[in-house]
Amino acid sequence: MDLHFLILFSLSLIDFLSPAYGYDPLDPNGNITIKWDVLVKNEDGNQNIQVSILNYQLYRHIELPGWRLSWGWQNQEVIWDMSGSEATEQGNCSTFLGSKKPHCCLQNPVIVDLLPGTPFNKQVSNCCKGGVLPSFVQGPGKFGSSFLMTIGSGAPSSTPPKGNVKVGVGIPTNFSLGVPGYSCGEAHLVPPSKFYSDNGRRTTEAVATYNVTCSYSQFLSSPSPKCCVSLSAFYNESIIPCPRCSCGCQGQAGLKCVKSGETPPVLQMPTDDNTPPPDPLVVCTRHMCPIRVHWHVKVSYKEYWRVKMTITNMNYVKNYSEWNLEVLHPSLQGLTQVFSFNYKPLNQHGNFNDTGMFYGIKFYNDMLSQAGENGNVQTEILLRKDPGNFTFRDGWAFPRRIYFNGDECVMPAPDDYPMMPSRALLLSPPNYILLFFLLCILWFSGFFY
Ligand SMILES: *[C@@H]1O[C@H](CO)[C@@H](O)[C@H](O)[C@H]1NC(C)=O
Ligand SMILES: *[C@@H]1O[C@H](CO)[C@@H](O)[C@H](O)[C@H]1NC(C)=O
Ligand SMILES: *[C@@H]1O[C@H](CO)[C@@H](O)[C@H](O)[C@H]1NC(C)=O
Ligand SMILES: *[C@@H]1O[C@H](CO)[C@@H](O)[C@H](O)[C@H]1NC(C)=O
Ligand SMILES: *[C@@H]1O[C@H](CO)[C@@H](O)[C@H](O)[C@H]1NC(C)=O
Ligand SMILES: *[C@@H]1O[C@H](CO)[C@@H](O)[C@H](O)[C@H]1NC(C)=O
Ligand SMILES: *[C@@H]1O[C@H](CO)[C@@H](O)[C@H](O)[C@H]1NC(C)=O
Ligand SMILES: *[C@@H]1O[C@H](CO)[C@@H](O)[C@H](O)[C@H]1NC(C)=O
Repeated sequence: MDLHFLILFSLSLIDFLSPAYGYDPLDPNGNITIKWDVLVKNEDGNQNIQVSILNYQLYRHIELPGWRLSWGWQNQEVIWDMSGSEATEQGNCSTFLGSKKPHCCLQNPVIVDLLPGTPFNKQVSNCCKGGVLPSFVQGPGKFGSSFLMTIGSGAPSSTPPKGNVKVGVGIPTNFSLGVPGYSCGEAHLVPPSKFYSDNGRRTTEAVATYNVTCSYSQFLSSPSPKCCVSLSAFYNESIIPCPRCSCGCQGQAGLKCVKSGETPPVLQMPTDDNTPPPDPLVVCTRHMCPIRVHWHVKVSYKEYWRVKMTITNMNYVKNYSEWNLEVLHPSLQGLTQVFSFNYKPLNQHGNFNDTGMFYGIKFYNDMLSQAGENGNVQTEILLRKDPGNFTFRDGWAFPRRIYFNGDECVMPAPDDYPMMPSRALLLSPPNYILLFFLLCILWFSGFFY
């Protein structure tokens, strides 16, 4: 069977399973879980709650401006007190007489994390990160956020409930993380969380625990792609660029770009963490993507081959902190050395590792700076040639799929891949030497006369 056909076929199969449909084949169990632990039920009907947001996604992370958790109360509950985070608005608490007013009386409260640097006496454990959540792989032990609150019935004890106002404290509905692309399900009662103290010698339990699962869909996040892939190889001088209009077309309404070499207009940086991030402002290119990934097949050795990967930030208004790159290639099974990135195999298909995650080394290249400011990171990787199936033919040496920060990148069409020249020139260095000797012999034997 023709390899092109095979590649196309497998691509279309992955297409069908891709995150656009809410299922990610590279991270099938990935989700963000909101855990609602009822720690105490007080005699006055109030409850002490611990809410935790846990990022169980292998590579997707939540960046600034961070999560903005919201929900809808079912019985007009109020939040009396909160620590580790805060509601963005108090709302109308005028029915509560006296000086002790609830923290938030809204039917649909919106909660934001406190900022780093909050005084210690206002912090709780795992709070105060400005709503940022690293991925499960990149932030071991730091992928969660928590806050504490006291909630109570919306009917103040001094005023008897009137009309159809229900009293009681329940579990809310309509959870939202406030991050584009995520949607959350309903809360489910699960076995109560256990808490350990005294070095694990004592265990306590929550009164009740509810889980809410939130999942990501690239299409919900943004209908147009955010990155593209260009290709080149030592055996062919042409560089195959990102496909035209991968992420948008120049001149398209609503898409701004800055011509290469020109200085971008003075940029309005977000002044506080509640303003949404600015729209991308990219370098004018045929692909208009904020991120370009270049895969260069650099050298062929006898038993190994070497690839250079470069990620270029073409966005003037964003530094990508804790970026990551997911790559599908059958040779990742034989990955021998990664020179300047971290690597973690994502072998979701049993023990056949054809998928892996590359990410920056802390304090060295984990930040991909904005365009115009040295906005690229690169590494070389060394891969073993599997004698059974390694080839430079038919685009085999190019990646099958690439994702940047979990969003799939647009690849050139397989028919456009750099092609091997005719078979004679396809020889690896030792064979050039052989060819040279062969020509010499032919020369001296008078073959050319
Ligand atoms: C969410 O992720 C956790 C951790 O990987 C997993 O145990 C749980 O089953 C996932 N939930 C769903 C609904 O997929
Ligand atoms: C939940 O959302 C639905 C649809 O947006 C809305 O009709 C309903 O009133 C909301 N419920 C609460 C308790 O906020
Ligand atoms: C606040 O709520 C009270 C009682 O429901 C109502 O009388 C009052 O008009 C509300 N105030 C505002 C500013 O909406
Ligand atoms: C609920 O979430 C916790 C993590 O916060 C997880 O350990 C547990 O397995 C989840 N339970 C269910 C039934 O999904
Ligand atoms: C990116 O980082 C540089 C250096 O830390 C900073 O000067 C610049 O303002 C940042 N850009 C954005 C868009 O945050
Ligand atoms: C392949 O997967 C196994 C099992 O997770 C892992 O131990 C091994 O390091 C992986 N090998 C490579 C080259 O990624
Ligand atoms: C390549 O061949 C090796 C054994 O020679 C085998 O283990 C591996 O699965 C093959 N890979 C592909 C993509 O067929
Ligand atoms: C290089 O690859 C391009 C694109 O596949 C192809 O058109 C061209 O003929 C190749 N060049 C050589 C010298 O083979």
